[in-house]
Amino acid sequence: MKEHRLSLSDYSRDVFALPGTTIFECLARAGILVRTPCGGQGTCGKCAIISCDGAIAPSEECLKFFSDKEIAEGMRLACKTKLNSDAVVKVPKESLFDKELLYLGFDDDANLPAKDPPVDILQFSLPEPSLENQLTDLESLRNSLGDIEVGLDILRELPLFLRQNAFKGEAIVFQNEILALRAPSSTPSLYAVSIDLGTTSVVLSLFDVKSGRLVQSGGFMNPQAKFGDDVISRISAQKESRENLEEMRRCVVDSANSLIQDICNSKKISREEIYLISVAGNTVMELFLCGIPAGQLGEIPFAPPFKNSILMDASKLGFNLNPNAKIHLFPVIGGFVGGDIVAGILSSELPSQPGKVLFVDVGTNGEIVFSDNGKMLGGAAAAGPAFEGARIDCGMRAAPGAIEKILISDGDIAYNVIRNVEPLGICGTALIDITAELLRLGVLDQYGRLLDSEEAPASVPPAIRRRIRPDSSGNSLEFFICRARDGKDISVSQKDFRELQLASGAIRASILIILKSAGVSPNNLDTVLLAGAFGNFIRRKNAKTIGLIPDIPDSKILYIGNASAAGAAALVMSKSKMMEADKIAGAVEYVEVSQDPDFQDEFASSLIFPEAGVP
Ligand code: FES
Repeated sequence: MKEHRLSLSDYSRDVFALPGTTIFECLARAGILVRTPCGGQGTCGKCAIISCDGAIAPSEECLKFFSDKEIAEGMRLACKTKLNSDAVVKVPKESLFDKELLYLGFDDDANLPAKDPPVDILQFSLPEPSLENQLTDLESLRNSLGDIEVGLDILRELPLFLRQNAFKGEAIVFQNEILALRAPSSTPSLYAVSIDLGTTSVVLSLFDVKSGRLVQSGGFMNPQAKFGDDVISRISAQKESRENLEEMRRCVVDSANSLIQDICNSKKISREEIYLISVAGNTVMELFLCGIPAGQLGEIPFAPPFKNSILMDASKLGFNLNPNAKIHLFPVIGGFVGGDIVAGILSSELPSQPGKVLFVDVGTNGEIVFSDNGKMLGGAAAAGPAFEGARIDCGMRAAPGAIEKILISDGDIAYNVIRNVEPLGICGTALIDITAELLRLGVLDQYGRLLDSEEAPASVPPAIRRRIRPDSSGNSLEFFICRARDGKDISVSQKDFRELQLASGAIRASILIILKSAGVSPNNLDTVLLAGAFGNFIRRKNAKTIGLIPDIPDSKILYIGNASAAGAAALVMSKSKMMEADKIAGAVEYVEVSQDPDFQDEFASSLIFPEAGVP
């Protein structure tokens, strides 16, 4: 069958594909990722492209989504249109996956205490065998290093190694097993990698195990995004074919390998000196990394195939490190409370924190763990992607160009844009801000209804009042924020406020169910720990105003940064942390929040904003 040519006008690049290939897939083949918050269902419009020569026929979904004028201008949904002739397309910047997404890594001078690293260098100097000393090589080695495991590969190497190095050397030991033998060195070096494997972004750090020093931290967008922005879309993609699962596994490993190689090149370190890698991800990410299907997580009882940590040769998964390097994957608590949360509990030392402490990681899947002097209960809230800017008309992730903060100042709004560039859209934190501000002004009522300028209280400043206007359909209202870089308006629609209500309500209801299971009232909490990249940027007062987190004094609400990345890093420096991770996963009682008989009622009442208009 003859392939068609798709020319990418902005990239001086052509891609060839068989007739019937979606434009999304053609672009992905050319290495251009477009956003797919709805997982390619044709409902979000974020994957819009422009058919420059009109050669791409609009599908039914396009006709529903775009106006006649936009269709005439060539607007099409990449996920729902197919290549059936040669064509030329343009990909608007707003449709591109945010390559520059901000990620929360470590400070450059981060140092971790390297007290009892699971992988270590043990030096030895053995007596040479003689007629008087008839000990075998292995006996001599064990006399020097203790009762240590020696596999067949090392045993094969040992006799020659000892004789070539005058019976001196160093052994790289993981727990109780020799991974490698090396000639003695005056500056022995040993490295380990930690990975926080997020659905959206991945944070990777290389540590010098001997000193605990961070060599370098970096990040990349999770390349699985081409299968959908969220875990549910990726589970669907994986169900479609075994190849999709393998591709999702491989693309993450390839990206990690290439970042590790870049760091090694720039720091003049050999990959061969990396002997341990620790990965903390949500349950689905960890399963996919191992090439294990996760379809059962989409069905009651949402049970993961296993919960324990996984320890194996890193080469088995395709990591290019020392060939004998090990990989450790964090244990999980349940289908939707994964290894990233165990890592977060580990780094925040939640079990040993005194009093009643609530740990919340706000995201598409909000994870909640409550600890009462170490007795822990945890569960997850399906918040949906609103906090990530998805399903929000002008929403985007926290990337350059995103309005990330909005406040009312001098009778009008003031806003802050990431990297101080022309605005492109609005991200989750700013959506919370404007919702809270409008609730306080009374422009948004307790039920999330945006009042028109006539209805709004007399105290609302005129500049704010003028921003309330009919949306493009004329049937509903929106709140205008500003003109975007592309000339379009950035507004928050009535539908957007509803999306935020749903996301915030899901988290609030889940918190209440977990606290109810523990027999604790929100007012009795001693501390709330906000974890994760998103949690770190939320304004506490506004999060409380919309009811996302319990209304306790700000001083009791602490940001703990990327607790998952910190936990993954702590593990490569400490044998005891590795053991503790398994204990934590076993100690958290898993609450299947959505199946609790009170959940629907709690959710319904959580959709009402608390004490609207009251700060
Ligand atoms: S409409 Fe194409 S990804 Fe949502």
